[in-house]
Amino acid sequence: MSKIISGFSKLTKEEKINWLATNYFTNQPEIISTIKQYWNDDKKLQQLHDDFIENTISNFYMPYGLAPNFKINNREYVIPMVVEESSVVAAASLVAKFWSIRGGFKAEVISTTKIGQVHFMYNGDKEALQEYFSQKKDALRSATASITKNMEKRGGGILDIQLVDKTEKLDNYYQLYVTFETVDSMGANFINSCLEVIAKEFRNDEIEIVMSILSNFVPDCLVRAEVSCKIEELGGDNPQKFAQKFHQAVQIAEVEPYRAVTHNKGIMNGIDAVVLATGNDFRAVEAGVHAYASRSGQYKSLTHCEIENGIFRFWIEIPLALGTVGGLTSLHPMAKLSLEMLQKPSARELMIIMATAGLAQNFAALRALTTKGIQHGHMKMHLMNILNQLGANDTEKKEVADYFEGKTVTHNAVVDKFNELRNSK
Ligand code: MEV
Repeated sequence: MSKIISGFSKLTKEEKINWLATNYFTNQPEIISTIKQYWNDDKKLQQLHDDFIENTISNFYMPYGLAPNFKINNREYVIPMVVEESSVVAAASLVAKFWSIRGGFKAEVISTTKIGQVHFMYNGDKEALQEYFSQKKDALRSATASITKNMEKRGGGILDIQLVDKTEKLDNYYQLYVTFETVDSMGANFINSCLEVIAKEFRNDEIEIVMSILSNFVPDCLVRAEVSCKIEELGGDNPQKFAQKFHQAVQIAEVEPYRAVTHNKGIMNGIDAVVLATGNDFRAVEAGVHAYASRSGQYKSLTHCEIENGIFRFWIEIPLALGTVGGLTSLHPMAKLSLEMLQKPSARELMIIMATAGLAQNFAALRALTTKGIQHGHMKMHLMNILNQLGANDTEKKEVADYFEGKTVTHNAVVDKFNELRNSK
């Protein structure tokens, strides 16, 4: 029987769950109880979450962790991170502490401009279009006045509107290319509302509007964070060798796209975790960051390293379109709490914090990769996850962990060792 359903959104939450269990599961009572296990007892809070999206049936937990000891521009931070991957928070914390006694992180916002486009088709005379645009430009701005009024009070608004000829790429294709400053809001709704009004004002019998939408490619909403110290301050047995291998690892990610993607993924482990914790849009951030990494035509590392006159310098330059007001940032109680924990940052300060989290994460990954290898730390956490699944107590965890020190951790080997230990008692 077909499972296609009409009017699903009109069903109650209970009805939706029952429909799901009946149509897609065999063990229905168990499925229903798993779904309901994640409901919040506080009905008002649950309702808030239900209303974020459509057809909500439950919640999906992610761990919310803390990475303390970040010193950024001489200010101390504890950074909230929402991430499911073991080792990410531990790595961030370790690296934060490491750099806190080596001058900390230094970061600055380079630019904060965002972009939106009205894409349209026009088959007439180019000069006539340019003339029409020049005449209309003021009216396009005035048409948005009721939307831009509040944003202008906060120091933002529309920066410029340009007509762009794209007919070399696609017949009859032009755009209105609009630049925005959205201050502390991510600005997606603001930008899209302005664009739709601009499009309405601009259209005529010869201009066919195709769509009006912001761009998540934000190369001019850019932040830079860095660390530096004398090579000998890097510590370890052989800081010269460490610095050299670390530098080579970054250079490899600058020239080899296969490596660059994984390298940048590691950076995003840190950034996405803070994006999520602060209720920002991780899809927008991800899309913008990876587009930026390939802006030269080749996908490259977002971090860079330099060794000069005995100084090790490691930095990141990354576009981040973020908000600290509006959207989920003020609706989600945990996002609000995260922003409070970060001392109520402006969007610019949040850019600085996130870029730092990404740089720290990349430092941790490259340090592990070029020394002990990545599996050492990962497998320790993996081991604990397996032991938790097996229901091991603290003594058993310690005994098994001691046994695996220096050995290869596989799921089967851990299960065997755990069973052997249990059966010997
Ligand atoms: C794993 O989530 C991230 C790393 O692969 C990043 C890297 O290789 O640089 C460890």
